[in-house]
Amino acid sequence: MKEFLKNIGCVILAAGEGTRMKSEDKPKLLFEICGKSIIEFVLETVSKINFEKVYIVVGFKADMIKQNILNSKFISDNFKKKIVFVEQKKRLGSGDAVKQVKKVVDKNIKYLLVLSGDVPLISKQTIENLINAHIVSKTECSVLSVMMENPYGYGRIIRDFSKKFVEIVEETELKEEQRTIKEVNAGIYVFNLPILWKAISKIKPDNKKEEYFITDVVRYLSSKQTVLCKDSQEVKGINTRKDLAEIEEIVREKILEDLMINGVTIKMPETVYVDFRSKVGVATEILPGSIILNSKIGEGCIIGPYSVLINTLVKDKTEVVYSYIRDSKIGSGCKIGPFSRIRPNTTIEDNSRIGNFVEVKNSYIGKNTKVNHLSYIGDTTLFEDVNIGAGTITCNYDGVKKYKTIIGKRVFVGSNVNLVAPIKIGDNVVIAAGSTITKDVPSNTFVIARAQEVQKPNHRIVKRLLRSRKNEN
Ligand code: UD1
Ligand code: CA
Repeated sequence: MKEFLKNIGCVILAAGEGTRMKSEDKPKLLFEICGKSIIEFVLETVSKINFEKVYIVVGFKADMIKQNILNSKFISDNFKKKIVFVEQKKRLGSGDAVKQVKKVVDKNIKYLLVLSGDVPLISKQTIENLINAHIVSKTECSVLSVMMENPYGYGRIIRDFSKKFVEIVEETELKEEQRTIKEVNAGIYVFNLPILWKAISKIKPDNKKEEYFITDVVRYLSSKQTVLCKDSQEVKGINTRKDLAEIEEIVREKILEDLMINGVTIKMPETVYVDFRSKVGVATEILPGSIILNSKIGEGCIIGPYSVLINTLVKDKTEVVYSYIRDSKIGSGCKIGPFSRIRPNTTIEDNSRIGNFVEVKNSYIGKNTKVNHLSYIGDTTLFEDVNIGAGTITCNYDGVKKYKTIIGKRVFVGSNVNLVAPIKIGDNVVIAAGSTITKDVPSNTFVIARAQEVQKPNHRIVKRLLRSRKNEN
């Protein structure tokens, strides 16, 4: 295989508008499947085969596609150096797209492998099989074909009475009796150069779409073959958002399968979504309804049921139950939830607890600290061993600006306290329940800030109440 690769160029068609996606500002190939764009799938596979050059034909929103490829974390920098972007100025069809490569292709290249950017699950093995079969056969063109239970939308492989491969006919051009043909064109080909350039100059946009179809070159090549791919899932193309969802489902199941093989427990996996950018440690349990995006979860954690983690780091043995966390770091041995919301730029150190209906934003929470019930902690630094009583609020916003709250070590904040920022509470402070604190409190201090309680036995208000109760009876 290796010695052949020196004279094989790889072409990836990625200039199309993807009109069937009904997406004006995002090109189809940038839609993501479990956190990886469609084009990144194809490139990741291609990068595992040692091609000399990879030509990517771009056109519609070319800059966005180029950016996505050049910034991709799924392909190496060395591979990126092999990429040559080729521009197709007008979207005149897949045939016209391939034609653009003629002006830039290296002279030593004898064979062109052409791939569609919108067929993401194609495997290295299948591509290598096609190349090998092509070189062995000494034909001018090899087309990857596949049997599809529902061939609608694909170009059909047309054979003559002796089963010899004659041409490819697109869905829109099919004759009635050809509609039932289940062998379809996967959109992946190997062509010989320079004969391809001769054939490509002959194709015309004489079809309902008025496009130059790459599939039409087959007619002008005398020796050609199909190479059957056994797995129809691998060559499924994405044209609509429905296709996207179907492929994402296949990929999602595969990601969860790999996690389970590596020692992660997943309950009701049909309800769990973990993307490619996430890592989950061994002996962690993911419970139903959980979504993990671009996050790293340690070992022995419990995530869920119904928890969402985005761009978040969770260390070992932490529980996140019915909670939503983004852009944050959670230590080990923590208990989060049920029903906590942790907003960006929050760090929670080891063995701390964030309980029900607690919102934390842009804050640092030291170890062994508890914020267990009904609180808002915003723009706050809370050191270790702090207890925050139920209903405590950091008042961080005066309607114009945001201010910081700092709370020292071993502070005990009673229930329903308002801390009006900017404010600094020292170490070992006790704050009485119901207080509204507006001034800094030095260390080792008890502070109470609430109205004096007055009790008046048998007051006239009590008597009036009693009278009205009697009348009701
Ligand atoms: C194509 C094949 C069809 C095959 C199917 C497999 C043609 C004419 N038909 O159909 O036989 O069964 O793939 O998935 O090729 N593109 C450009 N420039 C253009 C037009 C398209 O670069 O002007 C690119 C697209 O970005 C895409 C590829 O070519 O990656 C295929 O185009 P698409 O319109 O998706 O073709 P299909 O209708 O899917
Ligand atoms: Ca397609």
